[in-house]
Amino acid sequence: MYVCVCRAVTDKDILEAIAEGATTVRQLKEQLKVTESCGSCLESVRDLVKQAQPSEAA
Ligand code: FES
Repeated sequence: MYVCVCRAVTDKDILEAIAEGATTVRQLKEQLKVTESCGSCLESVRDLVKQAQPSEAA
């Protein structure tokens, strides 16, 4: 499922990046360019980071 339509990034792409060490939305932005265009995917990206790493949520 596409999370970031602007950059054609899927939830799988994001989870892979998290598995490879990304721990923040900012890192995902740098790696995958998510949130850089319209920004409407920000909440979804944030949720995926939270789900994957609850201790990093705050
Ligand atoms: S949907 Fe991600 S920047 Fe537009």
